[in-house]
Amino acid sequence: MCGIVGAVARRNVVPILIEGLRKLEYRGYDSAGIAIVNAAIERVRAVGRVAELDHLTRAAGSQAPTGIAHTRWATHGGVNEQNAHPHFSSGADHEVSVVHNGIIENHEALRAGLIAQGYVFSSETDTEVIAHLIHSHVAAGACLREAVQRTTRELEGAYAIAAVSGAEPHTVVGSRRGSPLLVGVGNGGTAKGENFLASDTSALLQVTRHVSYLEEGDVVELGLEGYAIFDADGNPVERPVLESQLSADSIELGTYTHYMQKEIFEQPGAIANTLEMVMSARTLSTGLFGADAQEVFERTRQVLIIACGTSYHAGSVAKYWLESIAGIPTAVEIASEYRYRDSVALPGTLVITVSQSGETADSIAALQHAKSMGLRDTLSICNVPESSLIRHSKLRFLTRAGPEIGVASTKAFTTQLASLFVLTMVLAKMRGRLNAINEQALLQQLRHLPAAMNHVLACEDAVRHWAGRFALKQHALFLGRGVHFPIALEGALKLKEVTYIHAEAYAAGELKHGPLALVDSQMPVVVVAPRDSLIEKLKSNLQEVRARGGELFIFADRDTKIEPSDGVNVINLVDHAGALSPILHVVPLQLLAYHTALARGTDVDKPRNLAKSVTVE
Ligand code: M6R
Repeated sequence: MCGIVGAVARRNVVPILIEGLRKLEYRGYDSAGIAIVNAAIERVRAVGRVAELDHLTRAAGSQAPTGIAHTRWATHGGVNEQNAHPHFSSGADHEVSVVHNGIIENHEALRAGLIAQGYVFSSETDTEVIAHLIHSHVAAGACLREAVQRTTRELEGAYAIAAVSGAEPHTVVGSRRGSPLLVGVGNGGTAKGENFLASDTSALLQVTRHVSYLEEGDVVELGLEGYAIFDADGNPVERPVLESQLSADSIELGTYTHYMQKEIFEQPGAIANTLEMVMSARTLSTGLFGADAQEVFERTRQVLIIACGTSYHAGSVAKYWLESIAGIPTAVEIASEYRYRDSVALPGTLVITVSQSGETADSIAALQHAKSMGLRDTLSICNVPESSLIRHSKLRFLTRAGPEIGVASTKAFTTQLASLFVLTMVLAKMRGRLNAINEQALLQQLRHLPAAMNHVLACEDAVRHWAGRFALKQHALFLGRGVHFPIALEGALKLKEVTYIHAEAYAAGELKHGPLALVDSQMPVVVVAPRDSLIEKLKSNLQEVRARGGELFIFADRDTKIEPSDGVNVINLVDHAGALSPILHVVPLQLLAYHTALARGTDVDKPRNLAKSVTVE
């Protein structure tokens, strides 16, 4: 997953590269580096964050009009300076440098061939073969663009790359297949004087709003007077230039200490934005999902939801809604499993991908897999309008959460849930399972959701108090039942991700089938306890925990009426919110993870070993 920036300008591009990398750190932050072109190629690389690289480039007085930069999430080779990008190849009076996002699957065979030619490798990365391959073509007389074109024909796997050559000090060449890369068109979209490359738009808002997305297999040559794009067959092509609507303010931290905290508290507004069309509508229509939605939904007999991580949990909640409210059989699949599994493609299946980024490699591949099996009715629920999943799906619904920077997904999750609930209502209505009175009642509940969430957020002080106790623990269990079981899963994922406390979630009825053996006085048990039809069953499960000395931390609806007692801690939220309850009940779990992470002193927004956007499989 890694982030890439490239720049050619009539000014010093080092601050632009560094600022771009800061915006891309969500893609990985194991190491960072730049290669700039002056009389020769100069590299500066640092293990750790972009801030460290910034420090080193300032100390070195690095300046140049052309350069490439990279922030790394390690796949091949450990986290050290040798493996940090950019990689480099030199010899016979030529030098080239390259940055790469993705995985080169045939790197071992390529490496053996290059070693046989006399190339010496200085890293354990798959990327270094790209540097030597480009060098070999430049040494054979190719210009940088031709060398990249020839090189990409030899690569198997996924890549976005940017390359520079000492022989062409005002050129950057990029290419992509399976990993994102876009051109930032300089000087107000005229491309005169400066042009840029990046993994996403946020890196380039500092210099341009005009972007052009490269297609699979494209190669682009950036210069001072313009840029030229060539398709996978080497033919010159035009790609549309779009004006990004992304706001620079929306990616700033403002008065918050961490993005995770900011994003938790942005949830009422994010849900209101996502539901804007619904809030003002008197009635729901299929048009919310695209022009073809009516036709697609009419032939929908079952739903297949594909996603990863938190987005998978959103899909898991939706399964309960779609089956109970809309009466549609629904399967939820982990994308990395589905893409490689022999499954049965049923006619009339609506394939829904759920994703914050829309660039998750497994989700994209799973969507392609579904299509290859003849499932053509596809809907993406996604937070990034120009993303791959949106572009490759027939129907779309945008979660308008705004950019989510914290690695731990929060507002993306609740806006996904709100979107999936709207879908459930639309499908229920089409199938005659939602009459006008019930539709109005649910619409009213949706309109009230941002306010209800604000009330839930008011439990922060009480949660902070619990967090101090959680910070001392090494393990935790999370319990939920029914539609709140995926919420327990999400709560455990949040806690693991940002606090490194080992946490597992179970459907509460499963406890006695094994996990109860883990319960003793040292095991905190977090319970999602809405006042729904399963509350009495849940209370029995809680007795099973207390009888073994386990300490309960219960997030209850105010009207659940569970009293605190010895070993039973209760935070009451709001009165039961009916079908929308999961959207509220996840919020205190997010706060618990956040405040426990603060108490443990972890890097909340950039937890170890993770990255925001998982663009490798
Ligand atoms: O961008 P996506 O929603 O497709 O990402 C899927 C997962 O990688 C993501 O939800 C991940 O699990 C989060 N870091 C969890 O907080």
